[in-house]
Amino acid sequence: MSTTDASAGPPPGTLAPSSGVPASPSRERSRGFFSRLLPKGLYTRSLLIIIVPIVILQSVIAFVFMERHWDRVTTRLSSATVRSIAAIIEVLETYDQDPGYRTVTRLADEQLNLSIAVLPPGPLPSPKPKQFFSLLDQALSRELSDRIGRPFWIDTIGRSKFVEIQIKLDEANLRILARRSQTYASNTHIFLAWMIGTSVVLIGVAILFLRNQIRPIERLADAAEGFGKGRNVPDFEPRGAREVRRASQAFIEMRRRIERQIEQRTTMLAGVSHDLRTILTRFRLQLALLGDTPATGDLKQDVTEMEEMLEAYVAFAKGDGDESTQDTDIQDVLKDLAHGAELTGATVDVRFTGDPVLPVRPNAIKRCLINLIVNACRYGDLVIITATHEKGWLTVNVDDDGPGIPPEKREIVFRAFVRLDQARNQDDAGTGLGLAIARDIARTHGGDVELSDAPLGGLRASLRIPG
Ligand SMILES: Nc1ncnc2c1ncn2[C@@H]1O[C@H](COP(=O)(O)OP(=O)(O)OP(=O)(O)O)[C@@H](O)[C@H]1O
Ligand SMILES: [Mg+2]
Repeated sequence: MSTTDASAGPPPGTLAPSSGVPASPSRERSRGFFSRLLPKGLYTRSLLIIIVPIVILQSVIAFVFMERHWDRVTTRLSSATVRSIAAIIEVLETYDQDPGYRTVTRLADEQLNLSIAVLPPGPLPSPKPKQFFSLLDQALSRELSDRIGRPFWIDTIGRSKFVEIQIKLDEANLRILARRSQTYASNTHIFLAWMIGTSVVLIGVAILFLRNQIRPIERLADAAEGFGKGRNVPDFEPRGAREVRRASQAFIEMRRRIERQIEQRTTMLAGVSHDLRTILTRFRLQLALLGDTPATGDLKQDVTEMEEMLEAYVAFAKGDGDESTQDTDIQDVLKDLAHGAELTGATVDVRFTGDPVLPVRPNAIKRCLINLIVNACRYGDLVIITATHEKGWLTVNVDDDGPGIPPEKREIVFRAFVRLDQARNQDDAGTGLGLAIARDIARTHGGDVELSDAPLGGLRASLRIPG
């Protein structure tokens, strides 16, 4: 290897970064901040994707329109009006007028659309309060002082449809009434109304369309979630956009494959157990022919045990797949089981909080709970069952005051046929399948069974299922 090669790659034993620049903590933090700000739902996010650009676009357009177009049009219109006024002033000051200034007044009215009056000289009225947004005032004032250069007074608020201007001439005051529309671009509100109106219609259409696009995704999520919890969603079929249909089709295929696999497993195990049972029956017959000796007694015992194991294993492998989900009162189930368990001599206490009704496969859940309670009664004298149903989860804790299970063995005991401390319970007829079955049932409901320390000193077996 040349020196260049050696320096090019990362030193042995170190991981090369997957992308060029590793993400800095500050960038990570800002990403976290933005993702916290962003709405979580696809529907709201898509709406934002549509609404934000519309709002930005319209704001920019409105700003540019106001700033440029409206300003320019208003300036032009004011300039035209002021030019007319300048012409009138010139005529008044240059030529002799008839009494009452009738000709010039008529001309102004007919040709320039301005209503004028020549008033006796005197001080101009005091200035009116300014309008908050008085672009017209500014434009008109600027034009008047630039083009006419005499003292003037404007009233843009007083008469709604007209603008009143008074100009101090050498020997008189000139009062002009001009139409508002003549002096500034007054159709802005129409433009704004159209702009906002069309945006509202656009957003309304977007909401309708988006809702229809999101619904198939929600249905797919529901179906997948239902399947995970072991519930059937019988009328689910692919709908919506092509990509969503593809995902739905893939989900249906996956569900079919999983169901087929389970079916295959059951059929195979049924076959195996049938074959083994035939051989075991033959065994038993041959043992019967051998007569009663201590050796055959032990062998018979072994054969019986093997048969029991076989039965239990087949029952476990078969599961409760055929059972359908029903709303079940878990509190009732627990009370029944506790009552049954008390007959074996243990003290069993049941506490339930929350809504006791849950959609589960009743027999399966009963089997799962029986296994946990029987274990607790077998190893402890006092058993406390606390169940809570809140925030979409049912939690059942089965606590006992027995010897418990050391933490490092709490996973192994879930394996089929694993029994701890053979000496402790060798007289019992257990096969070591109880916990494996319980966990299997919990998992087909989308939950799990876990073991921990009980406050009573023994083992706590916790069943958690969504519902
Ligand atoms: N509450 C408990 N306290 C102490 N040990 C326990 C408790 N529950 C289970 N165990 C241990 O875990 C092992 C496995 O339990 P599991 O329920 O799977 O089988 P089992 O009870 O022995 O047999 P089965 O339930 O099939 O009749 C038991 O053999 C026992 O050693
Ligand atoms: Mg058991």
